[in-house]
Amino acid sequence: MKLWASNFHKALDKQADDFNSSISFDSRMYKQDITGSIAHARMLGKQGIITAGDCEAIINGLEGILADIEAGKLEISPEAEDIHSFVEGELTSRIGDAGKRLHTARSRNDQVALDIRLYLRDEASQIISDIKGLISVLCDKADECKEYVMPGYTHMQRAQPVTFGHHLMAYAQMLLRDIDRLHDCIKRMNVSPLGSGALATTTYDLDREYTASLLGMDGITANSLDSVSDRDFTVELISCLSLVMVHLSRFSEEIILWCSWEFKFIELDDAYSTGSSIMPQKKNPDMAELVRGKAGRVFGDLTAMLTALKGLPLAYNKDMQEDKEAVFDAVDTVKMCLEVFAPMISTMKVLPGNMRKAASGGFINATDCADYLVEKGLPFRDAYKIVSEIVAHCIENGLTLESMSIGDYKSFCDKFGNDVYDAISLESCVMRRNVSGGPAPEQVAKQIANVRKTLTDM
Ligand code: ARG
Repeated sequence: MKLWASNFHKALDKQADDFNSSISFDSRMYKQDITGSIAHARMLGKQGIITAGDCEAIINGLEGILADIEAGKLEISPEAEDIHSFVEGELTSRIGDAGKRLHTARSRNDQVALDIRLYLRDEASQIISDIKGLISVLCDKADECKEYVMPGYTHMQRAQPVTFGHHLMAYAQMLLRDIDRLHDCIKRMNVSPLGSGALATTTYDLDREYTASLLGMDGITANSLDSVSDRDFTVELISCLSLVMVHLSRFSEEIILWCSWEFKFIELDDAYSTGSSIMPQKKNPDMAELVRGKAGRVFGDLTAMLTALKGLPLAYNKDMQEDKEAVFDAVDTVKMCLEVFAPMISTMKVLPGNMRKAASGGFINATDCADYLVEKGLPFRDAYKIVSEIVAHCIENGLTLESMSIGDYKSFCDKFGNDVYDAISLESCVMRRNVSGGPAPEQVAKQIANVRKTLTDM
């Protein structure tokens, strides 16, 4: 029987019952539901709202239920309306009347608001640690690759040389910001709505702070109507996760390009590639493509959540039950993506020879050639114009900046000397970009050290 059915003359229609039920997706919050109930019971006991004996019976009963679920001895019934009804029903069947006292001074509205906060707090922390794992893989890879010269691109056109380590560390920075945002999101999530009741608190003398402290929460929510209506934290979390997916998806796009024969900057390990059923030569970056594709799901979850909330009057409305599938999907998706991403990166083979080949001969050092003339005293705009003419000349005559003779150089500007070849070599182009945040191996090493330090501090 439903918790609320005493005043009803007939049972809920079967289809309506299935439609209404959330047990198929909220059963995953069983642990948070039980932990929340234990804290609530302790508070009721401490305040003398229930007797010490009932309090003890409830706590023992709930601990037994938790242990049995975890040991696989108790199956969560798919017939239950939701996880809250299931746990309370099971408790009452185990301990009798004391079980019926658990819900004193509580509603499922503040209960579910608590459960989901506790659940997402733990998941967000797990995601933070997964992201840290990926950043640390990036640091190790970048360390190996800090000397590898590759073309940096703008508009997907070769622009200026960078190092592969530098490129990888750009993603580490994005992911660090993601961690920061997740911490900030947890901060607002980690306050207890318990005691708000259905919408207007209760008449009992509660100690809400005590319950919150038992649950490791930083405080209590300030307005009971807001407490049971607020799902902002799900929106915030999915927004943070959407940005994580933007980052992973951009990274995936580059990995897919780098694996192509047109680039061949990297090769993914066989354990993270797939083949084609018809084309024997194929090695496909499916994992990266799936991550790129799954970004769309998470953005969809965000839209679903925002839309579900936008027209809701205060306080609780059943629409809010829709929060769970959206936010759970976002959390599950991001966790899966991170789990496959980190080993895909740590096992990939980097091909510095191909990166270097792509960086050579493509006028990627044209800015450096102009900077050379600036060093010889020319204003940058004049130097830029001379080098444009040189590049046009090279293209017309099948030359590169490296292969053009010094005589030809001098015909464009008499300030050119033999030292120009050294100035435009890829190594010096990269080495000389030894500015904070730059691609020079020395700077990349600093970036890596700073990121590693941040990881241990945060
Ligand atoms: N399954 C419900 C949910 O997820 C629990 C809260 C039910 N509250 C109510 N007033 N019907 O939102």
